[in-house]
Amino acid sequence: MAHTIVIFGASGDLTSRKLVPALYELHRKGRLPDGTRIVGSSRSGFSHEAWRERLVESTAGYLGDRFDRGVWNEFASSIYYHPGDVTQPDDVASLGQFLDGTEQGAETVRLYYLATAPGFYEPAVLNLGQAGMTCEDCAQRRVVIEKPFGIDLASARRLNEVVHRVFAESQVYRIDHYLGKETVSNLLVLRFANTIFEPIWNRNYVDHVQITAAEEVVIGHRAGFYESAGILRDMFQNHLMQLFTLTAMEGPARFDADAVRDEKVKVLRCVRPLARDEVARWTLRGQYRSYRDEPGVGRGSQTPTFGAVTWHVDNWRWQGVPFYLRSGKGMSCRTTQIVIQFRHPPHMIFGSNAVDDHEANRLVIQIQPREGIQLHFQSKVPDAGMKRRLVDLDFTFRDRFAGDIPDAYQRLLLDAMQGDASLFARSDEVEASWRLIDPIQAAWDEGAGPPLAFYESGDWGPPGAAEWMQRQGRQWFDSCPVLK
Ligand code: BG6
Repeated sequence: MAHTIVIFGASGDLTSRKLVPALYELHRKGRLPDGTRIVGSSRSGFSHEAWRERLVESTAGYLGDRFDRGVWNEFASSIYYHPGDVTQPDDVASLGQFLDGTEQGAETVRLYYLATAPGFYEPAVLNLGQAGMTCEDCAQRRVVIEKPFGIDLASARRLNEVVHRVFAESQVYRIDHYLGKETVSNLLVLRFANTIFEPIWNRNYVDHVQITAAEEVVIGHRAGFYESAGILRDMFQNHLMQLFTLTAMEGPARFDADAVRDEKVKVLRCVRPLARDEVARWTLRGQYRSYRDEPGVGRGSQTPTFGAVTWHVDNWRWQGVPFYLRSGKGMSCRTTQIVIQFRHPPHMIFGSNAVDDHEANRLVIQIQPREGIQLHFQSKVPDAGMKRRLVDLDFTFRDRFAGDIPDAYQRLLLDAMQGDASLFARSDEVEASWRLIDPIQAAWDEGAGPPLAFYESGDWGPPGAAEWMQRQGRQWFDSCPVLK
């Protein structure tokens, strides 16, 4: 079966930095199905050749040594461009005719990739429907929708409703690029392809869980987008919640799209939503000090660049085990990690029973950088009586497996082409996540949450973050990254 990937928003950043390099890499590795065409569309008036020229530069720049001109030339022969405004029904219909012409009646899977600004998702979907370029409930027409999927529950619901007027849920692929990261899907393998972790992955052995996505980068030129998003919409509703669900969910019966997503939705429904008067206690928000000097940011901006949230999960597995989610820009280093902090031994036979928190077992899943896993456990210090010290066992992907870790988009694009939606968000999942984030965002916006705390770029968020954890009887694990 042939494939056509139609990219709306073809002249944008996402297309040149992520999508085309990922497709090129898939081609280089021989993974793109034979007869795959890539058709870009946007308002810019490129010819096929002009668009290819533009892409060759950006792709070569992005891939560096991995770029090969000969391979590119082969790949580029299947790249086309058709100009058009996605809000104009006639332009979309004209694109449809162009696609029919290139496909020449051959049975073809079409992937409509919405890499546009979010404001264009609705008209794009409706115009595709109106032009007869979709077919109800058929597997050969799929739509891939980038984040952000809505800005709150109401807008996500509306977008789902519009999308479902044209596409059945099984044709919809909502991208969260975190799900395409190897270390994120490895969470499922770690938990459900081994026997040793699952029996202790619960309230009997786990004290709490910390999920951190810290970035050194600051907002820079992205204020136009970021000022209306802030940390909750940009990082929590999607990426952090995906890490949370994969860590906390029950084991699905099979690795297939519905079984996995059923479990994710189930655990989201077990999270206790925060009432307005609880938001100040269970969340924290901050802003790095120079944020207001970024171009496009107002002097009095209240937009948070750091956030922390405590989730309580009301089910048998996790009752009484808090999940701390935290993310920030302008932090001291880049790390995304999941820390499973285990309980202390119930009885200490080696002298003092008073072991501090940092001395209990800990499993650190390092999502990025230096992808891998580290297990911390007590060992006897040689030649020192029964003196103990916390030591670690390390596993890194780079040491164990040859080759580069692929960019998340390679996996996700291939899965979408093959019709596997396991690593894409379902409509009820997106809505369940917004349902938890909305009350926090509302309280923050209305000044009913914690006060905005400032921090220096290069710190681990506001100084009060450590006290906030202490009040909950815990300590942040601030090693970055744990694996070298
Ligand atoms: C994006 C956010 O979705 O994810 C960015 O909009 C953030 O603000 C980025 O920097 C982080 O992705 P990654 O893969 O670099 O962790």
